[in-house]
Amino acid sequence: MISRLADKWIVISGASSGFGAAAARAFGVEGGKVLLGARRLDRCKEVAAEAIKAGATVADAHVLDVAQTSAVETFAKWVRAKTDKVDVLINNAGGAMGLEKVADAKDADWEFMMQTNVLGVLRMTRALLPLMVNNPGSSIINIGSIAGRTAYEGGAAYCAAKAGELQITRALRLELCGTGVRVSTVDPGFAETEFSLVRFKGDATRAKKVYEGMIPLTAEDIAETLVWVASRPPHVCIDEMVIKPTDQAAVHKVFRRTSS
Ligand SMILES: NC(=O)c1ccc[n+]([C@@H]2O[C@H](COP(=O)([O-])OP(=O)(O)OC[C@H]3O[C@@H](n4cnc5c(N)ncnc54)[C@H](OP(=O)(O)O)[C@@H]3O)[C@@H](O)[C@H]2O)c1
Repeated sequence: MISRLADKWIVISGASSGFGAAAARAFGVEGGKVLLGARRLDRCKEVAAEAIKAGATVADAHVLDVAQTSAVETFAKWVRAKTDKVDVLINNAGGAMGLEKVADAKDADWEFMMQTNVLGVLRMTRALLPLMVNNPGSSIINIGSIAGRTAYEGGAAYCAAKAGELQITRALRLELCGTGVRVSTVDPGFAETEFSLVRFKGDATRAKKVYEGMIPLTAEDIAETLVWVASRPPHVCIDEMVIKPTDQAAVHKVFRRTSS
């Protein structure tokens, strides 16, 4: 059976690693045309080659920094040169930086989180919406987090940023009602990607400890979900989806196997 996503144009931000890279490969398997962006262009180009190998009919990459309006506009211009319509926009670029309590946190970390997870989603959506509003059945899928739904110590800015993403998703769905554009949020719990390595600024031991003794989600688990959300029939919108490891019943309730 031919996939509903075959030959559809799929734009993915933050495609150089983790969920974004796995999504590029997974949409490739469906025969999609994937356009990828992130700051590490070399990594994005490798992912594009993997997507082609997986079955993508087009896969290309362009440098993208969602924290800068001008960079987003340049990226959108590059997209427009390739297609006059976007079928799926995955606003995935983002992450957490630091786990300090508010009393000790740094401005640069707060700014990274707000610029990427909040303003980045707004900028990318504004820039690419003209290619979507006349394309009923197209989908905007934002990557949120359980952090946007439940606060935790050391997570004030990240939780605020992802709560912001959730409300942007809800407001956009209201604004776009009647256009046929679907707006969804997929909100994962613990997933082992480069997320914790970035949060702990390259400290691999500390990053590994986050997942110690439990079975986290993989990037492929999320990619599979994104393909499912995007491939529902045009009249079906998956508004909000929370996806967590079985070992993580709640933000603070994680089952860990001890070795002894
Ligand atoms: N892993 C988890 O446990 C988890 C759980 C819930 C939600 N999330 C969310 O899922 C999304 C993807 O994270 P991940 O787990 O796949 O982590 P990841 O492997 O660190 O991937 C993050 C991606 O975002 C990109 N990015 C960061 N800043 C950017 C910027 N200014 N402009 C463009 N791209 C940027 C990175 O690329 P460059 O560095 O090359 O720019 C990278 O491709 C994030 O929004 C994260 O908050 C993750």
